[in-house]
Amino acid sequence: MCGIVGYIGNNDAASILISGLKKLEYRGYDSAGIAVHENSKIKIKKKKGKLDNLISEIESEIFSGKTGLGHTRWATHGKPSDSNSHPHDDYNGEIVIVHNGIIENFESLKKDLTAKGHQFKSDTDTEVVAHLISSNYEDDLKQAVEKSVQKLEGSFAMAVMAVDQDDRIIAVRKDSPLIIGIGENENFLASDIPAYLSRTNDFYILEDGELAEIRKDSIDIYSFSSGEKKEKIKTHIDWDAEMAEKQGYVHFMLKEINEQPEALKWLLQDRLKDGQIDLRDSNIDKKWLSKYSKIHIVACGTAYHSGLLAKYLYEELLQISVEVEVASEYRYRKPLADKSTLMIAVSQSGETADTLAALRLAKKKGADILAFTNSRDSSIARESDMVLYLNAGPEIAVASTKAYTNMVAAFYMLVLDGLRQKDDFSKKALKKLTDELIKLPELMRLVIDNTEEKIKKIAEKYAEKAHIFFIGRNTDYALALEGALKLKEISYIHSEAYPAGELKHGTLALVEEGVPVISIALRKRLFAKLFSNLKEVKSRGAETLLITSAGNSYDEDTVDEVVELPEVDDYFAGLLAVVPMQLLAYYTALICERDIDQPRNLAKSVTVE
Ligand code: G6P
Repeated sequence: MCGIVGYIGNNDAASILISGLKKLEYRGYDSAGIAVHENSKIKIKKKKGKLDNLISEIESEIFSGKTGLGHTRWATHGKPSDSNSHPHDDYNGEIVIVHNGIIENFESLKKDLTAKGHQFKSDTDTEVVAHLISSNYEDDLKQAVEKSVQKLEGSFAMAVMAVDQDDRIIAVRKDSPLIIGIGENENFLASDIPAYLSRTNDFYILEDGELAEIRKDSIDIYSFSSGEKKEKIKTHIDWDAEMAEKQGYVHFMLKEINEQPEALKWLLQDRLKDGQIDLRDSNIDKKWLSKYSKIHIVACGTAYHSGLLAKYLYEELLQISVEVEVASEYRYRKPLADKSTLMIAVSQSGETADTLAALRLAKKKGADILAFTNSRDSSIARESDMVLYLNAGPEIAVASTKAYTNMVAAFYMLVLDGLRQKDDFSKKALKKLTDELIKLPELMRLVIDNTEEKIKKIAEKYAEKAHIFFIGRNTDYALALEGALKLKEISYIHSEAYPAGELKHGTLALVEEGVPVISIALRKRLFAKLFSNLKEVKSRGAETLLITSAGNSYDEDTVDEVVELPEVDDYFAGLLAVVPMQLLAYYTALICERDIDQPRNLAKSVTVE
């Protein structure tokens, strides 16, 4: 949800800002802009549309400034337009600001400022903050920002410059991420780490309520409510810049699909000791299964689908009650969370606003929080009692693939850890399941290699369809939801998932000649049931695709296409089945000529409600 960058040092700020924005475009791409200190002025250039529009706009311009800010926008207040793009200024160009988040009380602030004679050029909440800071500015930018943020309600990560102080950038954070990259005689500011990984591996991660005064050779961090100076510990990130590059793939999504076996291996190898799951690094109690009477899983989007799959497994194998809910619903309910509740908050970015709010609510009610996240030191990681890092490496494509796989695998590891604690579950059966889990990275590689060509052919047919349905039962239903989400978000083809048995209660009315129905049939005990649903749609003219494991026999007249996966315990087969669905979404979107890594209207990291 909007990407912020900043630079202060001895080099050409404009090009460094643009290179940072390129890495953050996944956060929003409605418009982009930069502001650079130039000859006693702040030069602002901003443009509606993707970053490339801005780049062509400024191609022939000469920038010489060494301090600046940049922004890529995902519109909330005010439609995407040149004037609503960031950076914003206080009309006179004296105070310049970039912002990620939502200022909830901007209308009343705007009214007060208008009454004092301020004039506005945009419809945004951000511009109001530029004016507010300007009205509090005498000769100390830090003080003016400090005073202004006390008046703000909502969420913000902001960076501010003043025309007469080109030796500093002031940054503040509340409920939206912001990190400072530490260089030599230069420092960087960004919404996310990949922006400046090519220039530094050391960062300060700002926390809520912190203000940073950044100069080229110093970084001072304060609490913006008490003014007290803080000692921060550097975070060293061992990802390299190349990990956040396309490395020859046309799209990040395809690269990330292909990285899944490796990412899964990293996740597992850290937590497998002597052939057994060892989750000590997450800080989870060795006897957590008896400590809690219920689990609440909260997440959004793809992460939610990983939790739904876990619900089926945990209730079946661990006999513990599991509720799974999208975080934006959970946070406004009165959930029955208490001391006996383990909340699992799942989030690739660790910054999703709704998931964070749901976590805070459960925490207040006494629940213990376990986070599954891919982002070290993210807000969700910091506010949780226990963290299981997903180790998927940087995920850039908006549509999540390798982070999802590792979320599901994290749930698998936790279920095995739970089974270890059950006296009535034999050690032999546990060993067998663990061995099956260990096989998954290799099998996943086989699935990618063996299904890609077939999927490309299926995609050619599907690219012309208006509606595509996915069905499944139990864990296969959770997978169907993920398959449908992947397809719709990047191909823009209407796709929906249904529990197979529910079709006849309405959706069957939409099935007619030529409508594709994709059925996921991995659970052996439910295979026959699912297959009878497939027959129902086939007899109404559907084009059927069956995704199943080798060894399940079926009537060939009912299925038009089959993707057969290597045999593995059906509790774990989901991790293999998701791969052809990701590839199907990818190749269908490719034929439809969609913007695969940055689908319209979406953003990767949703740090606003
Ligand atoms: C956005 C992204 C999805 C992601 C969801 C949750 O909608 O486009 O890919 O699944 O947010 O993100 P999180 O970072 O919390 O996993």
